[in-house]
Amino acid sequence: MADLKLDHIGIAVQSLAEGAAFYEALGLAVGGTEEVSEQRVKVAFLQIGDTRLELLEPTSADSPIAKHLEKRGPGLHHLCVRVDDIEAVMAHLAGAGFRLLSDEPQVGAHGCRVCFVHPKSTGGVLLELSQPAVP
Ligand code: CO
Repeated sequence: MADLKLDHIGIAVQSLAEGAAFYEALGLAVGGTEEVSEQRVKVAFLQIGDTRLELLEPTSADSPIAKHLEKRGPGLHHLCVRVDDIEAVMAHLAGAGFRLLSDEPQVGAHGCRVCFVHPKSTGGVLLELSQPAVP
């Protein structure tokens, strides 16, 4: 549990180009885009200091991001904390009674293994745990 980092901040957008326009004007650069089929999103990452912004555009109407846009419009979606051993963190949190959105890690961007923690368990913030893929 020791080495935690803020991996990225997830922001729901209607389109990556539209969503990136402000941040590019601010001076950030889109480092790459990727389709994450398991989550039914296209993502773009913009490096900012030691962390990144992750813009998320839905690729289908049943995407969790499409539902978020419908209910709340574009904006902040989740925080992502990078962990060394996602199974251990998941077991620890589940054992302490916190609600995870999946029983097993799922595949996220860059082949990371990810799991979301329900906002009801975190004080209102959807929180993504992410363990980077072994290079
Ligand atoms: Co994310």
